[in-house]
Amino acid sequence: MPKFPIDGSDRKPIGRSGEAISAIGLGSWAIRDYRRAFEAYTLALSLGIDNIDTAEMYDNGNAERFIGEVLRAVGRDKVFITTKLLPNKFRSRDSAIKAARLSLERLNVKYVDLILIHWPDNQTPIEEQARNLEAIAIEGLTRYIGVSNFTVEEFKRAQEALSRYELVVNQVKYSLLDKSIEDDMLPYAINNNILIQAYTPLERGEVLKDKLVREIADKYNKTPAQIALNFIISRPRVIAIPKAEKIEHIRELAGTMGWRLKSEDIELLEKLTK
Ligand SMILES: NC(=O)c1ccc[n+]([C@@H]2O[C@H](COP(=O)([O-])OP(=O)(O)OC[C@H]3O[C@@H](n4cnc5c(N)ncnc54)[C@H](OP(=O)(O)O)[C@@H]3O)[C@@H](O)[C@H]2O)c1
Repeated sequence: MPKFPIDGSDRKPIGRSGEAISAIGLGSWAIRDYRRAFEAYTLALSLGIDNIDTAEMYDNGNAERFIGEVLRAVGRDKVFITTKLLPNKFRSRDSAIKAARLSLERLNVKYVDLILIHWPDNQTPIEEQARNLEAIAIEGLTRYIGVSNFTVEEFKRAQEALSRYELVVNQVKYSLLDKSIEDDMLPYAINNNILIQAYTPLERGEVLKDKLVREIADKYNKTPAQIALNFIISRPRVIAIPKAEKIEHIRELAGTMGWRLKSEDIELLEKLTK
């Protein structure tokens, strides 16, 4: 038996909201060629990928500006946008709200769907960071709030400090070669309706070289990237947010949905380590 029940859905729920987003989203770190990426991202959004992850720090705000261009082309309401603010912005309510407003300006939107603390700030109590994050939502600048790179303990402390909003997401690293969240964060997320956004799910290409991944890909007539990502989205409460700017990569990412690995192959892939 696989370690977790197989989730066959390509739409994953956001907290307890009743809303859901596609099991494959699109990252936006380290885009090399924005012109080419524009074609890729608009294609992705026409192929059933409906959420994009970005951050104020990616390319000094240029990734957010680029996503703004994409939104203008496809329509703001077609995309669930996640952005992340730097930890030091959460040292006060005012600086958190100011940073959020600047992100919205670069994205050219009135609100985003989800704002995350990029990683915990080590100079501010977790509770205070969480309340300053909540202030952004109370101000109406984001529909949902969440965190990134938080441990279960940090997540719990942050949630307990909030009065009006729930943390709906923890964005963490999760791939075939790095399954550390399976020890604690993933079971906690499954039991508490928290969505995991799995970043670096392809290990920037490293996972695609693995012999077992390639063998399974041949067996299913899929690509290694599709096998690696299908494993991730077969977990309950998990979406993968790979980054791709090549058209052929985008087609592969979209083709990760609509099917699932068999349980015996999931079990084989569970044994893979770095
Ligand atoms: N919260 C955090 O602290 C944090 C940290 C890291 C990343 N992230 C987010 O997670 C996203 C994804 O992580 P990542 O960018 O680090 O790594 P990744 O998604 O594991 O790898 C991206 C690389 O994989 C390539 N690729 C994409 N699809 C492919 C396919 N079908 N076949 C072969 N290669 C493929 C891309 O190539 P092309 O670009 O050439 O298409 C790119 O070079 C980031 O963009 C960012 O939004 C968050």
